[in-house]
Amino acid sequence: GVPATTAEQPSVDHRACGHGKIILLGEHAVVYGSHAVAAPVPLAVRAVAQDTKSGGVDMFIPRWGVEYRLHRDPAHRDSFQRSLGIIFDELQLTDRSMRIEVFPNVPRAMGLGGSAAMAVAVIRALDQHYKLGLSDEEINALAFRCEEVAHGSASGIDNTVATYGKPLLYKRAGKKGELPMVRELHLPKRIPLVIGISGKESLTAVTVGKVRTAWQRNPALYDGIFQQIDALTLQGVEAMQQYDLERLGDLMNICHGLLNALRVSSWEVEELVQIAREHGALGAKLTGGGGGGSIVALCPQNREKVAAAIRDAGYQAMEVDIG
Ligand code: MEV
Repeated sequence: GVPATTAEQPSVDHRACGHGKIILLGEHAVVYGSHAVAAPVPLAVRAVAQDTKSGGVDMFIPRWGVEYRLHRDPAHRDSFQRSLGIIFDELQLTDRSMRIEVFPNVPRAMGLGGSAAMAVAVIRALDQHYKLGLSDEEINALAFRCEEVAHGSASGIDNTVATYGKPLLYKRAGKKGELPMVRELHLPKRIPLVIGISGKESLTAVTVGKVRTAWQRNPALYDGIFQQIDALTLQGVEAMQQYDLERLGDLMNICHGLLNALRVSSWEVEELVQIAREHGALGAKLTGGGGGGSIVALCPQNREKVAAAIRDAGYQAMEVDIG
């Protein structure tokens, strides 16, 4: 077929998709074996694969101004190519002639699972185009390999939500080769949130690396913090299932304090959290990798007010329901 060169999104939606996510409780500690709760947000990455005669794999992400020809030799790939490159190596498609176009509706490096959603979208586009018949489990496992390259010691929670698009309680596998614990959460009612986006880009690989260095210097102290996060995450699951939003809000606030103790907060994140709390959020915390990125605020009553105050301060706000 003749490759389309349009940067517009096709209007008929048969493109392959990976879901963006928020982590409600438990980020960072989840890398060390604690539980975490995550949910998809109505932001997705979509991808389409087309045959070309170009003689290589051409990747286009128009919205991010990214265009490259995938290097056949993994040793010659830069960090951006390396993560998605695994997909083509694993599926033995590196020698094909194709164009992959990616449409990210997840903002880049904002803690909303963009890299995992992108991996899942690209895998699904290839699966559809080449009729590979991959199961969700296989898609998830391959996206996890990409995530490990993208941020070192990934827990696997981002690719799992990106693949399944469901609210989940997650705990990583104890040993390599074992499967993680993934439990779908069924909530009595949807939970109203505001996502505040700081605009400060931050790579999860960097914040995960910083936490690791600090943990190595003082393992007992850090393990204690991870255990506290684990305990409050499990209490949070109960609060969600009982729709006790006051309690869930308290737990989110404490979780943020512990994430701050891990030093993955930032000036912008602290401002967003304070704005949300001052305008009536029951709980507010950073979400995802931190170091910038996004916050999530629980606002059953004052949602418009919280979102407006965040926008007035010059940040982006999105109202979402999870569950
Ligand atoms: C990133 O969304 C969540 C972290 O816990 C990293 C991970 O779990 O891989 C910070």
